[in-house]
Amino acid sequence: MSARAATAAPAKGRPKVDLDATVERLHRLGLGHAAERLSERLGAATKDELAPHAFLDRLLDDELTEREERRVKTSLKLSGLPTGQTLGNFDFAFQPSIERSRIETLATCAWLREKQTLLIQGPPGVGKTHLAIALGVKAVEHGFSVSFQRLDELLSALKRDNELPWSRLRRKKYLNVALLVIDEMGFEPMNRHEASLFFRLVGYRYGRGSILITTNKGIKDWPELLAGDEILATAILDRLLHHSHVLNIKGRSYRLRDLEQAISLRQ
Ligand SMILES: Nc1ncnc2c1ncn2[C@@H]1O[C@H](COP(=O)(O)OP(=O)(O)OP(=O)(O)O)[C@@H](O)[C@H]1O
Ligand SMILES: [Mg+2]
Repeated sequence: MSARAATAAPAKGRPKVDLDATVERLHRLGLGHAAERLSERLGAATKDELAPHAFLDRLLDDELTEREERRVKTSLKLSGLPTGQTLGNFDFAFQPSIERSRIETLATCAWLREKQTLLIQGPPGVGKTHLAIALGVKAVEHGFSVSFQRLDELLSALKRDNELPWSRLRRKKYLNVALLVIDEMGFEPMNRHEASLFFRLVGYRYGRGSILITTNKGIKDWPELLAGDEILATAILDRLLHHSHVLNIKGRSYRLRDLEQAISLRQ
């Protein structure tokens, strides 16, 4: 008997009832959540005179819902996505340059199925990272694997893993997740070695998985970011922009809105 089944057994001294055997069978079948809800669901079914198929359907739905919640929770943890920034708490009215319908279309995650790229660019505080996280959460909810990394962390990992044999390298998240979110591109230019590692990463993921990049730099500034190498920058942009979406956010910094309000009140 499995450990789970053992825990489902009635406690010592407690009289065994017919339902215990059913609970035990559900546990042995790996339907732990259904086992936990059985008694409650049976009570409700009797009270509401529910047809047997409706009772069974609700019980199975309990199992599926709970499993899905667990999956999302675990995948979010593995993704490294920060918590608390969602589409639900993004104030679209504050940032009118962002078309809500475009974000909602991206939130369907169809672009991930097509292995496309998303570039979110704009000045500081306009919500680039917030939107990247929110879309990452949507991707997890839709069942895609996601990894969220700041560019400096990603470059450190690429340098650290550079000598790994391919058999180990290809298991790295930045290569094999369905969506790699790279936050904060543009704060510091890369050196030659970093730029060439970045090129290898983009080249490998091209056609295999999506990349979402947030940046405060325009596309014309990319050569400068990529060790001043125009040829490398063109090759990277060519792959990134081939099947891509570009969100250009123009507007005020959300971080400064309270300050702006305070100043305007004082005047
Ligand atoms: N429209 C918005 N509605 C709600 N919160 C917002 C909005 N825009 C930004 N924020 C919040 O403001 C803070 C700054 O936003 P965010 O980090 O996304 O900016 P950013 O564009 O990535 O800036 P940076 O270029 O400095 O990284 C975050 O706490 C974010 O949740
Ligand atoms: Mg940011």
